[in-house]
Amino acid sequence: MENFTFRNATKIIFGKGAESKVGAETAKYGSKILLHYGGGSIKKYGIYDRVLKSLKDSGLEIIELGGVQPNPRLSLARKGIDICRREKVDFILAVGGGSAIDSAKTIASGVPYSGDVWDFYTGKAELKEIVPVGVVLTIPASGSESSGSAVITNEEGLYKKGFYSELLRPKFAILNPEITYTLPPYQTACGASDIMAHIMERYFTTVEDVELTDRFCEAALRTIINNTPVALRESENYAARAEIMWTGTIAHNDLLSTGRIGDWGSHKIEVEISGIYDLAHGAGLAIIFPAWMKYVYEKDLQRFAQFATRVWDVEPDFNDIKKTALAGIERLKNFYKEIGLPVTLKEANIPYDRLEEMARKCTENGPVGNFVKLDTNDVLKILEIAK
Ligand code: NZQ
Ligand code: ZN
Repeated sequence: MENFTFRNATKIIFGKGAESKVGAETAKYGSKILLHYGGGSIKKYGIYDRVLKSLKDSGLEIIELGGVQPNPRLSLARKGIDICRREKVDFILAVGGGSAIDSAKTIASGVPYSGDVWDFYTGKAELKEIVPVGVVLTIPASGSESSGSAVITNEEGLYKKGFYSELLRPKFAILNPEITYTLPPYQTACGASDIMAHIMERYFTTVEDVELTDRFCEAALRTIINNTPVALRESENYAARAEIMWTGTIAHNDLLSTGRIGDWGSHKIEVEISGIYDLAHGAGLAIIFPAWMKYVYEKDLQRFAQFATRVWDVEPDFNDIKKTALAGIERLKNFYKEIGLPVTLKEANIPYDRLEEMARKCTENGPVGNFVKLDTNDVLKILEIAK
C-alpha cells in the first residue's frame, strides 16, 4: 500500500426530502447566491420550486443562471464569472448533475482570479482561492458533488479538459434519491457506467497489498450491478435509487483510492470523444473501458481474473487464467448492453475519421494511464478496438 493523506471535506446530507435543508446550509456560507442549473429538468419536476422556497425561507438573495448543457461549455461559465463579479455573489449553488456542478466550480474558480479561468485547465495557473460551492444533486454519475475535479469543454478547438484541486470540493452535497426517479433510462444507465468507471479506474492498479480497497471497490461495483437493472425496471424504487446514489458519491470521493494509484487512461480517452461529439460521458466510457481492458489485461492477468470472479461471479478456470480474465471483460460488456448502452463507436454513431486527432490530443502532454502507460499509438489502437 502507498502512503496517503485522506480528507474529503464535503458534508453529505442524504435522504428523502433532504433538499428542504438547502437554505439553512447555504446561509452558513453566503447571503447573495448564484443558483446554477441545466436545461430545465429541475423546473419540469418541481425541484426548482422546493429549492427556491428553502433558499427564500433562509432570507437569501438569489441570482439565477440556467442553461448548462451536458458536457458544459466554457462560454457559459465565463458569463457566470461576469455575473458573479458584477453582483458580488458570495456563494454558488449548483442544482443538477456533473455538468451544472462543474460549470459552477469553473465559475467559482474564475471569480477571484485575475486571469482567464481556462488557465487552471491548461495547467498555466494553480487555484489559490475559490467562491464556496454547494450542490443539490439530481443524477448520480459524475461524483462531482464531492470530488476535487471539474471538467469543461472549451468550444474553441473542442477541448474537453479537467483539473484538480482540493479547493474544488463542494462545501455540502444534498442527495435525495427520490429526485432521481425522473431520470430517463438512458441517463440512469450512463450514470451507472460513469460510477463503475470511477471504481474501475481505481481498481486497476499496479500497487500491491491493497486488499481493503480492492474489496471496497468490488462491493461498490456489485452494488451498481445489482441495483441498476432494478432502477431501470422500477424507476421509483427508493432502495435501488438510494444504493446507486450513495455508491456514486463513494466511487469518486477518493476513499477508494487510498493507498493506491489509479489508472484514468479510459477517462482521458473518453473525454476526447464526448468533447468532439457531445456524447454522454457514461456512454463513451461503456465503449472505451472494455476496449482498454482488452488492450492491457495481459499486464496483470491475476487482477483481471480477480475482477472476473469477485465482481462478475465468473467460474474460475484454474488451467486457463486468460480465459477467466477475458470472461470478466465480456460480462462487463454484456452488462452495458443489457442496460441499453452502446459498446462500440459505431453503435454511438461516432465516425472513424478523427480517431488519430483524438489520440494525438489525448496524449499531447505525454502518455496517459498508470496501469499501462499509453502513448499516441496505444490510444489509437484502443480506439480501433472500440470501432
Ligand atoms: O440539463 P437538465 O435539463 O437538468 O437535464 C439533465 C441532462 O440532460 C438530465 N437530468 C439530470 N438530472 C435529472 C435529469 N433528468 C431528469 N430527472 C433528473 N433528476 O440528465 C442529463 C445529464 O446531466 P449531466 O449533468 O450532464 O450528467 P452527469 O452528472 O453525468 O455529468 C456529466 C459531466 O460530468 C463530467 C463529465 O465529463 C460530463 O461533462 N464529469 C465530472 C467529473 C468530476 N467533476 O469529478 C468526473 C467525471 O468523470 C466526469 O468527467
Ligand atoms: Zn467519469
